[in-house]
Amino acid sequence: MASNKRKPLFAGNWKMNHVPREAAAVAGAVLAGIGDRDDVQAVLAPTFVSIPAVVEVLRGSPVSVAGQNCHWESSGAFTGEVTAEMLKAAGCSHVILGHSERRQFFGETDETVKWRFAAAHRAGLSPIVCVGETLAEREARRTLDVIERQLLFALSAANREQALRTVIAYEPVWAIGTGKVATPGQAQEAHAFLRKLLANRFDEAVAAQVRILYGGSVKPDNIAELMAQPDIDGALIGGASLKPESFLGIVQNGRRA
Ligand code: 13P
Repeated sequence: MASNKRKPLFAGNWKMNHVPREAAAVAGAVLAGIGDRDDVQAVLAPTFVSIPAVVEVLRGSPVSVAGQNCHWESSGAFTGEVTAEMLKAAGCSHVILGHSERRQFFGETDETVKWRFAAAHRAGLSPIVCVGETLAEREARRTLDVIERQLLFALSAANREQALRTVIAYEPVWAIGTGKVATPGQAQEAHAFLRKLLANRFDEAVAAQVRILYGGSVKPDNIAELMAQPDIDGALIGGASLKPESFLGIVQNGRRA
């Protein structure tokens, strides 16, 4: 089955948590738990100030580091912002883009996600592009329209190589931090649809290779049924990634059979 070729990816989005000392301790425990297994890929996304401490702990290891956002310019008078090149220089390999919390609270739009996407690739970072509908949008049966618009806009200037280095995260807004996880069927429907969009926009090979993560109240006890779906390739984890035991529990239980 095509899905078996995609290495599962588990990314911890620590959001605005963990000072450098705490972040280093959690990263160290995650690394110890993952060991040298190469059947999964783990990525940790600390807050900007904790990136150096985490990079230091994970240097030379299979666990990667992501930024939680980046600006689209490569330098300039943008107080409070961080460039993709800075993240790369600090040791990141990935950057989360278009998270719903940024769309909701910080004025992120489809257009700014597209610009940030270009900046990430310019710097050699793999973007983790987040899409997802609100509860009102789901109830109005607009889920697929919303995620189609978000995905195609973000990728509108992308070439094939960039698409292949991109990770997509389907995060229904109503499932984030609420304890209300999407059913495996709801998630699979969205993931299969996103993969079809990739096939239409690029080709079948791109669609077969790009990993699509699910995010929203993922826990050690609900990951297995999500990972049993053919188009779910891992998870973007918020609350349950803050403690190494629960992050490692997700990695363990989310292993493909
Ligand atoms: P929770 O896992 O806390 O629901 O957060 C999901 C998320 O937003 C990951 O980016």
